[in-house]
Amino acid sequence: MAHPRFLTITPNPAVDTTYLIDRLTLGAINRVDQALPVAGGKGNNVARILAALGQTPTATGFTGGHTGTFIERGLKSAGVVPSFVSVPGASRVCLTIVEQETGRITEVREPGQPVTAEDAERLLGHVRNLARETDVAVISGSLPPGLPSDFVTELVSLLKSHNVFVALDTSGEALRGGLRGQPDLIKPNRDEIRDLIGPFADRDELVVRVQERLFGELLSPTAAVLVSLGADGALLIEPNRAIVAKPPSVDSVNSVGSGDALLAGFLDARGQGCDLPQVLARAVATGTAAALDEAVGVVNGDDIERIYAEVIVETIPAIPTMFVRQVCQPQPAQRCHAR
Ligand SMILES: Nc1ncnc2c1ncn2[C@@H]1O[C@H](COP(=O)(O)OP(=O)(O)OP(=O)(O)O)[C@@H](O)[C@H]1O
Ligand SMILES: [Mg+2]
Repeated sequence: MAHPRFLTITPNPAVDTTYLIDRLTLGAINRVDQALPVAGGKGNNVARILAALGQTPTATGFTGGHTGTFIERGLKSAGVVPSFVSVPGASRVCLTIVEQETGRITEVREPGQPVTAEDAERLLGHVRNLARETDVAVISGSLPPGLPSDFVTELVSLLKSHNVFVALDTSGEALRGGLRGQPDLIKPNRDEIRDLIGPFADRDELVVRVQERLFGELLSPTAAVLVSLGADGALLIEPNRAIVAKPPSVDSVNSVGSGDALLAGFLDARGQGCDLPQVLARAVATGTAAALDEAVGVVNGDDIERIYAEVIVETIPAIPTMFVRQVCQPQPAQRCHAR
């Protein structure tokens, strides 16, 4: 699968605007130093980053109004093929306020305009057509008001019935809904995985819990769970093994959207025949590179390569209760530079 055909599905897109500001003062007028709007919503972030990595993904979901037009134009100029279903309400705007004095980040998120059952049917019909030309689909982000979690179940099932590899990155009820459709990969962060499996004391307990509680019951034995751990990198958990990749320490500027970059990096490297530890290393390098850019979900290729050379990968063999670790830090010569 040298050039997998990617489809991203963003039910609730947004113009994601980052405001760079010295210091945010509540109850006062705040002057913005720089406004950095991007065509966002989590699936659209994944699409933009896949395009930055050299892929030509198609992006779908609902768009409306002048903000919807901005999103479609922004995606197109980033190398993504927009193919959205039009709805009457304008697409939402989400703000990420980065205070440059302290690095503190404040997010302000609109819920999005409601969509109807008829809109949902139109999107399902559209995805049914697109599925015929798709190898890998990514369903990401929240649902707009009016869409039940069963919609995600239907979306996943529909794509699976066309033999599409389905990656799911959402939370709460939407994630539970999606799991009922048996996706191939889910990408929870710490909070999202805790919501699914309950509290865990450390990484080893997290691995065992996921293996015991998710596989066989909620996920098929051929699926995988990609848990993102912020500055600690990411864990890829399969029924019989787990791999962890840790990035070097960096000065993170804006980590909003870096989970989307992690997922894009994972799917891009997976499609290029890298072995799984290398796929995870490239994924983490892409996620960490996104944390270095001020705008949401934007990556620089040189940052990715520089970080990739320093990612440490560790395989945890499946011996529940008595983990034996085998440190396998790949040497530069063994690294996967498929492109
Ligand atoms: N402070 C940081 N330093 C280095 N890398 C980071 C940092 N924060 C995030 N990352 C990178 O980004 C990846 C995803 O991070 P995180 O777990 O925060 O995702 P997330 O919560 O799903 O983010 P979002 O949903 O906003 O995209 C990590 O695996 C890591 O590679
Ligand atoms: Mg996330």
